[in-house]
Amino acid sequence: MGKDVIIACDFSSAQATFDFLDKFTEEKPFVKIGMELFYAEGPSIVKEIKKRGHKIFLDLKLHDIPNTVKKSMAVLSKLDVDMTNLHAAGTVEMMKAALEGLTREDGTRPILIAVTQLTSTSEERMQKELLINASINDTIVKYANNAKEAGLDGVVCSPLEAGMVKESCGKEFMTVTPGVRFADGDVGDQVRVTTPEKAKEIGSDYIVVGRPITAADDPVAAYRRCVREFVG
Ligand code: C5P
Repeated sequence: MGKDVIIACDFSSAQATFDFLDKFTEEKPFVKIGMELFYAEGPSIVKEIKKRGHKIFLDLKLHDIPNTVKKSMAVLSKLDVDMTNLHAAGTVEMMKAALEGLTREDGTRPILIAVTQLTSTSEERMQKELLINASINDTIVKYANNAKEAGLDGVVCSPLEAGMVKESCGKEFMTVTPGVRFADGDVGDQVRVTTPEKAKEIGSDYIVVGRPITAADDPVAAYRRCVREFVG
């Protein structure tokens, strides 16, 4: 499994995204396209970025009945993305259906990972509003195990949760972790953050980095620093 840095391209238009990607003349970073850009520009943004030679993590976090998710995943698979995701809360049956939909006729498929509990959900709200009477950590580990049982490749989680997920699901089970900041950088609105070096130590397979790269004075230098610290 190749460790890599994924840049969160949280831009609102195709033009802003291309202006950013044009800065990279030597490397082709793995990029994450989220709901904002996808809803603004549609599938063509995925095709355009793919044509430029980038790997793509399409972060749409699907959550619906198994049949709908299966059919939607089949569409995403045809877009030729490299990684995509869904909510583990959709149950093991939904995750299995997603995997079926995603698998192409030749047996290949994009990497499929699950969101366990969003990092914006506090334990208090999860218990009070969602009536889940377990700790947030037990919930994350249980959802990760459900994803593993369904045959998924891994989960999206905070780097600080990656260790316990690996411990329970095995080190081959992938962890993709946002919430990364340089030791001397701005934390912004992220609460539980880790440096690229620390994420490497904990065992993250991919780190997702947005503003520390996209808002840097020199995004290419910031990307290279991330790769140096995380991949080595
Ligand atoms: O700019 P920043 O590095 O905070 O960007 C992190 C990216 O990872 C954003 O696209 C954000 O939506 C995403 N993300 C996150 N926390 C999660 C899931 C996704 O920060 N739990």
